[in-house]
Amino acid sequence: MKRLILSMAAMIIVAAMQAKTLVACYSYTNNVERIVTALRSQTAVDVIKIEPAEKGLDYAANNYALGTQLLNAIRSNPNDASSYPATDPVKVNMNEYDMIVIATPLWWSQMAAPFQTFLFHYGPQMAGKNIGVIVSSASSGISGVVADAKRLIPGGNFVEPNLWIRSSQTSDAASMISSWLEDIHYNDLTTGISSMTTENGFGITASHGFLSASGEFGTLSLYNLSGNKVVDATECPVSTSALVPGIYIAEASNGNRSVKLKISIGGR
Ligand SMILES: Cc1cc2nc3c(=O)[nH]c(=O)nc-3n(C[C@H](O)[C@H](O)[C@H](O)COP(=O)(O)O)c2cc1C
Repeated sequence: MKRLILSMAAMIIVAAMQAKTLVACYSYTNNVERIVTALRSQTAVDVIKIEPAEKGLDYAANNYALGTQLLNAIRSNPNDASSYPATDPVKVNMNEYDMIVIATPLWWSQMAAPFQTFLFHYGPQMAGKNIGVIVSSASSGISGVVADAKRLIPGGNFVEPNLWIRSSQTSDAASMISSWLEDIHYNDLTTGISSMTTENGFGITASHGFLSASGEFGTLSLYNLSGNKVVDATECPVSTSALVPGIYIAEASNGNRSVKLKISIGGR
């Protein structure tokens, strides 16, 4: 019975430490919106939707004149914030996420302009994170959108393959997403348990970005290889994402007893 309770506790800790995924999306005519709804039904993710600040614009009128104008402004001066159309403010803390899925329409073989605004501001904060790319287009290939994503998220760890869903395939989004999640090994990317130990009634588990201890430990500490204590916590999980990548020794202790675990941080 005791063993059962302990293993259930370990499962809860593992679940609590699952890496979090953010889906950031923009949709003008709702195809991407429907794709994201299908994605949400298959995996637990947080979603933010980008909205242009100016409402009711018709990007498609006059042979997509406004869409073209917005994209040309970005293309002629991509490093200037004023080239990007204003969008409503979003509240997001990128530190909470290990994986970001971006979902955007294609406009003239490029990334839709309002979504570029979002990435212009938040892309640099996505450095080091896994980035999945989903693009909806009527028929054009998506390489230009992927190039925009790589320009705007310069430090992103782009996972392959990208997912291209044509407008006519939107109703098949659920099955295409399910195959794509397998293709990118989504579960491996987001479970991320890198090492764990149980001894003396304590357990320590290190996952990508988090360190946790189980049992009646008093302190959970982390030492770098110079012996300096860099984490001293009494509650967990502890985020390790801000630490310098390298090898560390984690120690859970209650004074009399302790358990140690050598862990690697940032070595994904
Ligand atoms: C301004 C604009 C330009 C577009 N340019 C293209 C294009 O060059 N090639 C293409 O295949 N589809 C193009 N499309 C169609 C969209 O990529 C497609 O309808 C997509 O599914 C829209 O996603 P959404 O419904 O989430 O906005 C364009 C749409 C707009 C509004």
